Amino acid sequence: MGSLHGVLARGELRTPHGSIDSALDFSPPDCNGNLIIDRSTGRPFYVDFQAFELANEVQLFSEIAAREKNTLHFGGTRFFRGGGNYLYQSIPGLTVGKRDVTHRWREFEAMFKVARLSLAGRTIYDIGCNTGLMLYNALSSGALWGFGWDTAQVIDGSRRILLALGATRFTLIPGAIGLETNFACAIPDHLMEPRHGVLFYLAISDHIGFPNGIASLPWQYMLYEGHSGQSIAGESVRLVSVPWLKDAEILATRAFSDGDSPKRPVILLRRA
Ligand SMILES: C[S@@+](CC[C@H](N)C(=O)[O-])C[C@H]1O[C@@H](n2cnc3c(N)ncnc32)[C@H](O)[C@@H]1O
Repeated sequence: MGSLHGVLARGELRTPHGSIDSALDFSPPDCNGNLIIDRSTGRPFYVDFQAFELANEVQLFSEIAAREKNTLHFGGTRFFRGGGNYLYQSIPGLTVGKRDVTHRWREFEAMFKVARLSLAGRTIYDIGCNTGLMLYNALSSGALWGFGWDTAQVIDGSRRILLALGATRFTLIPGAIGLETNFACAIPDHLMEPRHGVLFYLAISDHIGFPNGIASLPWQYMLYEGHSGQSIAGESVRLVSVPWLKDAEILATRAFSDGDSPKRPVILLRRA
């Protein structure tokens, strides 16, 4: 209760009750039966849904963005953005970013439609997920769970942003990705079969290459985005030269620019 009072006193969150002090569900000794002790560990758990709301969502996200801009920034700065660091992925309706997440997602969805791919019930594997907003969009489209990999510093910020946005069905895996990274060890056994997931490989290939461990993840479709200066034709040739993509079928392609980023090729593939 002390922690909860501390959070409420900061003014970011509020409850629909005038004061939690007058609500039975927050009263001692056991919060109306909601406060239980786990016999095996002795840890107390509060188990009831309660209504909380963000007092000022726009202000909260501006503050988070200001706090996280140095960790979540990636690549060069932009004179017209004040010359300093800013978010790589925009938070739609709340903050700008180098990449326009809404625009990109609309283009990706058009490609999914061409390939008759629905994300509903599928697991998403996002390599170099940055803020995790592509996972957030996929979860909003009905994906079952999202896994995201990025550096420890970035993952700290993504976790805060995804939780503040209300996302819960995700696992973020911190650490430097290298050619030897074992991605599958983060995936629970029940998700390993059937290979039904969707791999997001967005603006990451020039940073990490194509580690063999990606092949062991249980994905069926791969959404690939290249970098500026690359073409659909060039990237298609490059992708099929990756050993674990040699039998993959290209289902849809697009090239577009978004936000402050020049045009990039995007390719949707299905593996054999
Ligand atoms: C260009 S951004 C792309 C972000 C996201 N995939 C997107 O397209 O919106 C590259 C991301 O990959 C991460 N990254 C680059 N190299 C990495 C490495 N070796 N290990 C872990 N993360 C890395 C960066 O921290 C950054 O968040």
